[in-house]
Amino acid sequence: MSDSTASHPIWSNRLTYILATTGAAVGLGNIWKFPYIAGENGGGAFVLMYLLCILLLGIPIMVAEVMLGRKGRANPVHAMLTQARSAGVSKGWSLIGIMGVAAGIMILMYYSVVAGWSLEYVFQSATSSYIGKSPTDVAAGFGVLAQDTTRQLIWHSAFISVTAFIVGLGVTRGIGNAVNILMPMLFMLLLLLLWYAYNNGEFMRGLTFMFSADFSKLTGASLLTAMGHAFFTLSLGMGTVMVYGSYMPESQSIPSASVTVAFLDTLIALVAGMAIFPLVFASGLEPGSGPGLLFETLPIAFSDMWGGAFFGTGFFVLVSIAALSSSISLIEPGIAWLEKLGITRIKATVGLALLCWIGGVASIYSADVFSTLDYLTANIMLPLGGLLIALFVGWRLGYTRVRKEITGVSNGLFNIWFVVLRFITPIGVIVVFYESIKGLFGA
Ligand code: PFF
Repeated sequence: MSDSTASHPIWSNRLTYILATTGAAVGLGNIWKFPYIAGENGGGAFVLMYLLCILLLGIPIMVAEVMLGRKGRANPVHAMLTQARSAGVSKGWSLIGIMGVAAGIMILMYYSVVAGWSLEYVFQSATSSYIGKSPTDVAAGFGVLAQDTTRQLIWHSAFISVTAFIVGLGVTRGIGNAVNILMPMLFMLLLLLLWYAYNNGEFMRGLTFMFSADFSKLTGASLLTAMGHAFFTLSLGMGTVMVYGSYMPESQSIPSASVTVAFLDTLIALVAGMAIFPLVFASGLEPGSGPGLLFETLPIAFSDMWGGAFFGTGFFVLVSIAALSSSISLIEPGIAWLEKLGITRIKATVGLALLCWIGGVASIYSADVFSTLDYLTANIMLPLGGLLIALFVGWRLGYTRVRKEITGVSNGLFNIWFVVLRFITPIGVIVVFYESIKGLFGA
């Protein structure tokens, strides 16, 4: 990373942008959350809806959100303020930025707890504590952890501290290099696990579960979960890709960078699912067993695998690091904003990290807090942020201003994107919101 101006840095090259944004996107959402929510929502039809949401809502919004960041060259709140001013529309649009900052903090309040579970499994793998045990005993181990608040507290505190330490130093220098090495390693380990699942799991049953669509299982609520997850997994609607986009070199093409990030993110989620479901079926677990799914199935696989302690350690280290490159991106919009308001980076970091820590403690003690934070952010705040971004870019900024910023695509492609962003994306989000509200009232 090099400084282009004294006040606002620019990634040193295009690849760094891709890696940092992929690092933000690929995280617990792909490896922990996707398999278990796909499991809870019946598999195939849900996966298909999720893919459709990535294509019709996620990618178009990512292009728009990154563009707002790069044009604004500032944190989400100030980037929105500048652009609302230059387009001559209400300053109220900067609420998108404020809601985003809040959503990031709220997500980190439970994300850090799950990252803590992953750290616990690094420890358990490294000390071979589940190796050689029966599948039932290994699976029960997660239940023990879920009851052990002290242990969860220690790991959650450790994870928040590391996040704060890196963010306090300034994210950009270390993270680019780290993701450069770690993302390929994560992918290699996932492939290894896929190979293991292919050989030792009920692979075809897993695939069938993931890819054969039974639409009768699809409810308004599961549609909302699929849409919310598309936003969550791509880190959209809350200013993360806006901040990262604000560091993007001028010459980089926003659409091709966004498609690359979305493609990698989706691929990693699908591979994770294809590795995990065959193991779920082979070990007699339920795909809908909830947030513990990853932490029950993988240790079962590693417990009787050659070199299981080694691979298990490696895998959970990488899950933890994938979580770390995302957690940094969750807190960064808030810190960048506070800094602009004149608060030092260190003070901003300590303050926000403390807030996240307190929220995390609440999530550990109450499963309701945990799931409410998850539901509110993923299913409401991020899609709402995305909807407002689509409306702002599609209807308020004006065609010419937007066209100038979106380079590297033909007029034809640009026009298709712009029409999708103006009509399909907002209508899509609104229809899903409507369907899920209708479902709530049993209509
Ligand atoms: N995309 C991350 C994941 O899938 O784990 C989570 C996340 C990071 C969501 C950053 C939102 C965000 F701004």
